[in-house]
Amino acid sequence: MMTIAYPTESDSGRGVLSSGLDGVIAAETRLSRVDGAAGVLVLRGWPVEEAVQRFRFEDVVALLWEGFVPVHGLAERLSAGRQAAFAAVGSGLAASRALPPPAALRAMLAALPEPEDPAAILGAAPVFLAARLRAGTGRAPIPPDPDLSTAADLLRMVTGRVPSAAAVRALDTYLVTVSDHGLNASTFAARVVASTGAGLVPAAVAGLCALEGPLHGGAPGPVLDMLDAIGEPAAAEAWIAAELAAGRRLMGFGHRIYRRRDPRADVLRAAVGTLDTPRIRLAETVEATALAALARHKPDRPLPTNVEFWTALLLDGVGLPRDAFTGVFAIGRLAGWIGHIFEQRATGRLIRPESRYIGPAPQRAA
Ligand code: ACO
Repeated sequence: MMTIAYPTESDSGRGVLSSGLDGVIAAETRLSRVDGAAGVLVLRGWPVEEAVQRFRFEDVVALLWEGFVPVHGLAERLSAGRQAAFAAVGSGLAASRALPPPAALRAMLAALPEPEDPAAILGAAPVFLAARLRAGTGRAPIPPDPDLSTAADLLRMVTGRVPSAAAVRALDTYLVTVSDHGLNASTFAARVVASTGAGLVPAAVAGLCALEGPLHGGAPGPVLDMLDAIGEPAAAEAWIAAELAAGRRLMGFGHRIYRRRDPRADVLRAAVGTLDTPRIRLAETVEATALAALARHKPDRPLPTNVEFWTALLLDGVGLPRDAFTGVFAIGRLAGWIGHIFEQRATGRLIRPESRYIGPAPQRAA
């Protein structure tokens, strides 16, 4: 058999291997800037710390999609999207009731007709998620209230109660904070599908599919599981040491891009401080203990607290159930996915990287 000399380049010889696409720039964007070395996130010109002070989620949607705030009528367009979606909840739930909430949200969004207004998709997501969450405990869906913001209506449609102003403010801060984040895995997935000329619905659903695993967007639930397993501050040290010794990762720590700090974690930590949440003391101890343990465990690889650690505390603190977390993240990130889909379409360019063949050498007849 003939041996093959593997090249270091791609099969065409035009590219070099970059595992995980580390350091590869695959798109230009006006939507957000992620500076991992400095620990800075800018949302279309606004540092995230400033954006959460100035803007509601609806404003940030306008900022991402149109480039300026306010876009008059956007809140109304999102409300109209919520109302239109409620009419489809019955048939959507019939087909997806047995699926976990993120999968049910995917299925219901995938069944939407291609909309003229992208607000129809972003408006539909909270309605579908809330309906599926309530169906999981045998409760009927609650119709949307067109006068409420996305954050307020989502909380009301899930819990069935009028949410407190503090809870609405905190959830709104969360949605703004996660609305966009450079070319993360789900946004890249959405852009890849958009680059084939696919419609808004399949491209947005591709973004949702990328949230299925625990490494991107799926960690907040496991963060709460970790806090539950630790139970009390005094148990943190031993529990964390055992996890690391067993070779397991601590959920809510580490980030591909941020090496010093994840600015979103700081913003959300402050927002959690405005809520009356009983887990906060335990969370603070676990965070400090984990950071110290990770610094010893991987001295050459900074593993700061990431957005998902404080997301878990915030979403729990506003009264959302654990199985809602990935779906709520998707609602915030849909704003960014849709903005990126528009940008990708405008380039008119198919995303098509190369691979490097490492299979058996080509066979030849003797
Ligand atoms: N706990 C323990 N060790 C860790 C952690 C962690 N949270 N994160 C990374 N490491 C270790 C890895 O085991 C690896 O060690 P090795 O070199 O001995 O194999 C080393 O640090 C480097 O890890 P990579 O996987 O190469 O780092 P990468 O940049 O690919 O991963 C990621 C980033 C996926 C976020 C990772 O830090 C992780 O798995 N964290 C836990 C899950 C999590 O919190 N996900 C949410 C991310 S934020 C978001 O998606 C919105």
